[in-house]
Amino acid sequence: MTLSLHPLSPHVGVEARGVDLRHAVLPEIVAELRRSWLDATVLLFRDQVLTPADLVRVTRLFGEPFVYTRAENELPGHREVLVLSNLTENGRPIGSPASGRYWHTDGHFLRLPPAASLLYAVEVPPTGGDTHFANMVAAYAALPEAVRARIDGRRVVISRVQSRPYNYPNKPPVTDAERAAWPDMPQPLVRAHPETGRRALYVGGNVPWRVEGMPDEESAPLVTELQSFAVRGEFAYTHRWRAGDLVMWDNRSTLHRATVYDQVKHRRLMHRTTIVGDEPFFA
Ligand code: SIN
Repeated sequence: MTLSLHPLSPHVGVEARGVDLRHAVLPEIVAELRRSWLDATVLLFRDQVLTPADLVRVTRLFGEPFVYTRAENELPGHREVLVLSNLTENGRPIGSPASGRYWHTDGHFLRLPPAASLLYAVEVPPTGGDTHFANMVAAYAALPEAVRARIDGRRVVISRVQSRPYNYPNKPPVTDAERAAWPDMPQPLVRAHPETGRRALYVGGNVPWRVEGMPDEESAPLVTELQSFAVRGEFAYTHRWRAGDLVMWDNRSTLHRATVYDQVKHRRLMHRTTIVGDEPFFA
């Protein structure tokens, strides 16, 4: 089979055809996949039949797998694999039932957020449960010059404590133990991609983060404006899952967001891995 590459939308995503990931992939093919992925920020393989061990092996083609999420959602026997699912076994959830339903980039509250995430669809609902992606390089490039000048070289303070009421409005307030375990994490608001050098907005989500050195009354509306600009339709792509899809996204240059589905009627089972991150640096 020969590799061919097909854009999924004007700014986001490329589908790689002609690759069966059950088998070894030649280094020159991996290099071509990597180049296309870096350009498109999201890479799709359809019709793959992957065991959890295959998924970890495929992850290793692109980087070092990284374990950082909640142990209760790990796949038994495969610490690198996070289970996202509404399914239960013996009355207990087998994974995290609701993946991020707000725009975010994985692990931005860590000093070294994962560079990439891979999500493999084992079972998907007939409707709903799509994932939206948005390209932060394209969004940054489209910002007016005056806004770019205002944000270049700035740091945004990512705070899990601040994000709790936005992302989990039904959970109780942050405890003292959580507050102690979740230090604020300043990140570049504009991130130079370590592999391409391209500048990307790093402003994820729905939380009006504080920009260091800016008064709150200035930074909250600025961050909110950047967040809504970043996910405008022209920078975005919606992935409608089929079982057997494997999607890899670049956390350094995309935002993503899961959507709802009927969790009572339908089953969704996804396996996710992440790849160790690299030092963020300023644009
Ligand atoms: C994620 O946010 O990592 C997963 C997205 C999804 O479940 O669609």
